[in-house]
Amino acid sequence: MHKPVYLDNSATTRILPEVAAVMRQVMADSFGNPSSPHRLGLEAERVLHTARRMLAGACGAREAEIFFTSGGTEANNLALKGAALRRVRRGRHLVTTKIEHASVLQACRALEKQGFTVTFLEVDSCGLVDPEQVTAALRPDTVLVSVMHVNNEAGAVQPIAEIGRLLKSRHSGIIFHVDAVQSLGKLPVHPAGWCADLVSFSAHKIHGPKGTGALFCREGLELEPLFHGGGQEKGVRPGTENVAGIAGFGAAVRLCAERREENQVHLAALRQRLLCGILAQIPDTACNGPAAAAPHIASVTFKGVNGEVLMHALEERGIFVSTGSACHSRRPEPSHVLLAMGVAEKDIASTLRFSFSPENTTEEIDYALEQLAELAASLRTLQGRR
Ligand SMILES: Cc1ncc(COP(=O)(O)O)c(C=O)c1O
Repeated sequence: MHKPVYLDNSATTRILPEVAAVMRQVMADSFGNPSSPHRLGLEAERVLHTARRMLAGACGAREAEIFFTSGGTEANNLALKGAALRRVRRGRHLVTTKIEHASVLQACRALEKQGFTVTFLEVDSCGLVDPEQVTAALRPDTVLVSVMHVNNEAGAVQPIAEIGRLLKSRHSGIIFHVDAVQSLGKLPVHPAGWCADLVSFSAHKIHGPKGTGALFCREGLELEPLFHGGGQEKGVRPGTENVAGIAGFGAAVRLCAERREENQVHLAALRQRLLCGILAQIPDTACNGPAAAAPHIASVTFKGVNGEVLMHALEERGIFVSTGSACHSRRPEPSHVLLAMGVAEKDIASTLRFSFSPENTTEEIDYALEQLAELAASLRTLQGRR
């Protein structure tokens, strides 16, 4: 049996040994409560400070603009609900896209129940949003626009800087939120360059721990907290901090920031190798998403092959991929992202997502290709016989 080939890195990544070592050390030695005024408390506070400096440095922000959360889901909820609820008197209209992560879409649905109206923008067949369409959707009562940077299923990279520039040049008072959970560590992330007020991050997509994330919140911008409690994270996110998780997040950010450019080249080469191989060697296959997609995500339709059966057959040969995003893959509904891109339902059921990490090698890609070609051919023969 081949050693496991993990190509589901958009669902989550393996914690790097260096990150796990930092977390172990913090759990053993810096176990104080960061709010305690004694030495152990101050030591834990220093741990938070180091991680905050790492993340702020990686995205060109000030340390005071980083708020730690329990992950990307909480960061997205805090951004949308926190900004919208704080501005109810200015308006109750939000703009987002049909291909956002569930944590944005469901936060919008929850706000609709509280009297907000949400415009869900269409995307083109590559999964891209037209910046002009964003501004065309604005109304006098629009308070917030939320657009993700990299889509987690198709890898579409949205023209975030252009959207931010257009938005702020025409309506400077509207809050701009960007979900950068899938782009941190893979592409440059710079809230100021995007004219973004709020940006969400998650640690477990960059070889850090699960259950840790952060929200960049532009200095001076006020948010309604989701929780009420002590004054941690300046009251925006009260609750005793997950010190070890945050330390791991900081270490993961440092490592991926140091290696971002070389990682980006390596990831793009892996993606290209797999995609070109599939399209050349396996008949009736198609890539979903734009040609200039994110370097670490490839969505491929194997026409006439049941995606779930193919995924499990690959698993038996030690290859781990997904049939969609992790939050959808246990549900029978077709992917809302591929539907919005106009992919037919029968083709969505034949689609796999491959997502790469700097840890993957060309040898792994070649093994996956070989197995895919063999399995796609035999599954088509089997299904053809039925
Ligand atoms: C684009 C995007 N946003 C948000 C999230 C949620 O992040 P977390 O798993 O840290 O809650 C994910 C996770 O898959 C994601 O892909």
